[in-house]
Amino acid sequence: MKFFRKTFAFIISAMIMASLVGCGASNEADEEEAAKVEKPKQQEVAQGTPQESDSSTENTAKSEDSEEKGKILVIYFSRTGEQYTVGVIDKGNTAIVAEMIAEETGADLFEVLPADDHYPLTYAELTDVAKSEQNDNARPEYAGELPDLSSYDTIFVGAPVWWGDWPMIMYTVFENNDFSGKTLVPFSTHEGSGLSGFDKKLSSSCPDSTVLDGLAIRGNDAQNKQDDVREEVISWIRNLGY
Ligand SMILES: Cc1cc2nc3c(=O)[nH]c(=O)nc-3n(C[C@H](O)[C@H](O)[C@H](O)COP(=O)(O)O)c2cc1C
Repeated sequence: MKFFRKTFAFIISAMIMASLVGCGASNEADEEEAAKVEKPKQQEVAQGTPQESDSSTENTAKSEDSEEKGKILVIYFSRTGEQYTVGVIDKGNTAIVAEMIAEETGADLFEVLPADDHYPLTYAELTDVAKSEQNDNARPEYAGELPDLSSYDTIFVGAPVWWGDWPMIMYTVFENNDFSGKTLVPFSTHEGSGLSGFDKKLSSSCPDSTVLDGLAIRGNDAQNKQDDVREEVISWIRNLGY
């Protein structure tokens, strides 16, 4: 009962926050079924190091000028464990989208991992921790170092929407690294708030970067409608000229 009350409270808060933030948010919040609760699996802890994308997808429809866009990096944050509407997952929703972008653009991948993984694996507890971090304007530390950004021209940056905003750990990434002169492309996964102003907030945090149009994908679709999501990703990146 407590969980459902929390989930309901969260939905209402998320809807209000999304409408307040309003920067490019699609405000498509609607009624969602409560998250299916299963026993969470142990969180896998990986190192925060860049991974070469396996680029297994041969895409002959690449944009003509994509070759001139230079080297591309995808930076993302994503959680496994229990997530909203999808139950317990062993690959995060945002991770799925990040990997698609890397496969379709030939980009390298960097996963932002918390330095001390203090995030709970149950959804209701995670929302509490995330809310406290937001209220405190916290800058949680991440593990490892980003790769040398000087070799990248375009950086896709993605995360789940948390309480109508980027997770606070992403602000640590924005503030601890020099993104000036880079082309930044935001993407989110969410369950109703859309892009939630990720683009505007990224521009504010990185004022000397060029921020392109972002993409918002439902987390549930990332898990369960991957063919459709891949098409959406391809169409988006091709429209941007990649
Ligand atoms: C702490 C927390 C806060 C969330 N806040 C929102 C929100 O404000 N708006 C929304 O649409 N979805 C919200 N969600 C749902 C997530 O954005 C969505 O499930 C996302 O796909 C999770 O991605 P991940 O598996 O990559 O972490 C929230 C989820 C969590 C855990």
